[in-house]
Formats: sequence, structure tokens, C-alpha cells
Amino acid sequence: MPGQYLATIESNEDLGAGVCRLTILAPEIAAAGRPGQFVMLRSGRGLDPLLSRPFSLHQTMADGRMQVLFKVLGEGTRRLAALAAGASVAIVGPLGRGFALTPPPTGTRLGLIGGGIGVAPLLFLAREIQRLLPDGTALDVLLGARSKAELAPLLADFRALGLEPAVATDDGSLGHHGLVPELIDQQWGQEGSHCRVFCCGPWPMMAAVASRCRERGWACQVSLEAMMACGFSACLGCAVAGSGKRERYFHVCKDGPVFQAEDVNWG
Ligand SMILES: Cc1cc2nc3c(=O)[nH]c(=O)nc-3n(C[C@H](O)[C@H](O)[C@H](O)COP(=O)(O)OP(=O)(O)OC[C@H]3O[C@@H](n4cnc5c(N)ncnc54)[C@H](O)[C@@H]3O)c2cc1C
Ligand code: FES
Repeated sequence: MPGQYLATIESNEDLGAGVCRLTILAPEIAAAGRPGQFVMLRSGRGLDPLLSRPFSLHQTMADGRMQVLFKVLGEGTRRLAALAAGASVAIVGPLGRGFALTPPPTGTRLGLIGGGIGVAPLLFLAREIQRLLPDGTALDVLLGARSKAELAPLLADFRALGLEPAVATDDGSLGHHGLVPELIDQQWGQEGSHCRVFCCGPWPMMAAVASRCRERGWACQVSLEAMMACGFSACLGCAVAGSGKRERYFHVCKDGPVFQAEDVNWG
């Protein structure tokens, strides 16, 4: 069950390229949260509920701390970026449906694919996959960003789990010079029905990943973003079109944010 808390900031790291990592003491959310779920967060200063913003759970720790990783875009994220250790934040969560983790058939590779700040939920997911799934489940991480500066600080976290992400950058400053969906062809080839993909990033990137997975018959889960005013299905502002096979519209906050790629109308 989600709860509403006034929580304390333990640290706020500036990772460069407009990306910050907030560590928050929120034991209930840290204990209950699953990869792919999110929180609604706003600076404890002021009373404006419209400044609550959704952020994926980036990491949870056994000692009651949790982290969000965010990119500064507008007023809500600017306020969060300005918070120092000891400040308070209003936080509601954990919210939504996260990634579904079931043991894959023997020989299946699992692929985590992140674009831009869409990398945020994938570290938690990688850790949970390593914890929950059988030893020997092959796990690959493919990450894309505009440039090296956006990605470099996050690579160490995956390496600490024994994972070496394959990387693509728009400007070629790190890894493959190009887009992250192209790494699918490079890393896993064209054939086989042996991959299960978990994806988070900008819409066009996820649409391209979903299309490649569909062609190959691979299962693909995507974490969608939408503008959210409430986060718990009260405002109906986060509707996205379904594929027609299931419902006509989904609400990202309640039915997602994680969906099977085939259930989404990619337009
Ligand atoms: C379920 C979910 C999980 C999310 N997880 C994360 C996360 O882990 N880290 C993170 O950095 N962000 C995440 N986001 C996006 C984040 O909520 C927005 O970046 C944030 O709300 C922007 O708030 P703001 O007040 O700073 O910007 P606003 O003032 O609301 O907007 C500033 C500008 O950015 C544009 N904008 C707002 N949101 C987005 C968006 N999602 N994509 C592209 N442009 C946008 C607006 O149209 C506007 O032009 C998530 C969103 C959802 C729905
Ligand atoms: S954000 Fe209000 S209904 Fe989804």
C-alpha cells in the first residue's frame, strides 16, 4: 500500500550534465518498493501539490534509504536539485505496477535497455534480477545517452554489480556512435527467440526497441512516462492509448508505468 510521508534528505549529489541523485530516508517505501514503481515527490517547502512530480525508484537500501535519479527540466526538478542534506521532501509511494520478474526459460538472455534518464529504474531492476533469478541467468545492459558526460557517472554502479553495459552516444563520445536500439542488432544479432527485454527511455527509443522485439518474437516490457498531476488515478491526466488488443486507454499511474510493449499503441 502506498503511503504519504515527510521524509529527510540524506544527500543530494550533482552528477553533472543536469543530473542529480537524491538519497532519502523513507523506510516504508524502501521496504515495499519494487523495480519500476515510482514515487510522487516535491520539495517540503511550500504547499503547492501541483509541484509533486513522479520519479522512478532508482535504488532502495536495507537500512531504510532510497534514491531517485533525476534530470533537471523545469520548476519541480529545479527545486529538488536545490535541496541540501537535512531538508525535507513530501513523498508518496510506492506507486504503480513495476516490472514483472518471472524466471525465464533456460537459455534466455535478459536485456535491460535504458535511454537518457530512463536508466534510472534499471539499476534497481538489475540488482533484483541478480537476487531473484537463478544463477547463470544471462543479463546484458544497453544504455544510450546524448554524450559521455550523461552516462559516465552511472556506469560504475552497474560495474559494481559485475555488469559491463554496452553504450551508445549521440555524439560518439562513448561507445557506439548512434542510437541505443542499434545496439540490439550489434549485441544480440537478428535471430533467435532467446531475449527478454526491459526498457525505459524516451518514447521514440522505446518504440524502436518494441518494434525490434516484435520482429524477433521477444517479450518486451516498457516503462512509460506521462504528465502526472496526482499519481494515483484521481485526475485521469496520464492516459495513453492501448494497442486495441486490450483496453482502449491505460492510465500510466495505475495500470503502469510498466506495460507489455505489445499492449501499447506506438502510433
Ligand atoms: C512514472 C514516471 C517515472 C519517472 N521517473 C523519472 C526519473 O526517475 N527521473 C527523471 O528525471 N524523470 C522521471 N520522470 C519524468 C519527471 O517526472 C519529469 O521530468 C518531471 O515531472 C519534470 O518536472 P519539472 O517540474 O522539472 O518540469 P516541468 O516544469 O513540469 O516541465 C518542464 C519542461 O519539461 C517537459 N517535460 C516534463 N516532463 C517531461 C518528460 N517526462 N519527458 C520530457 N519532457 C518533459 C515539459 O513539457 C516542459 O517543457 C518520470 C515520469 C514518470 C511518469
Ligand atoms: S496521474 Fe492522475 S490519473 Fe494518473
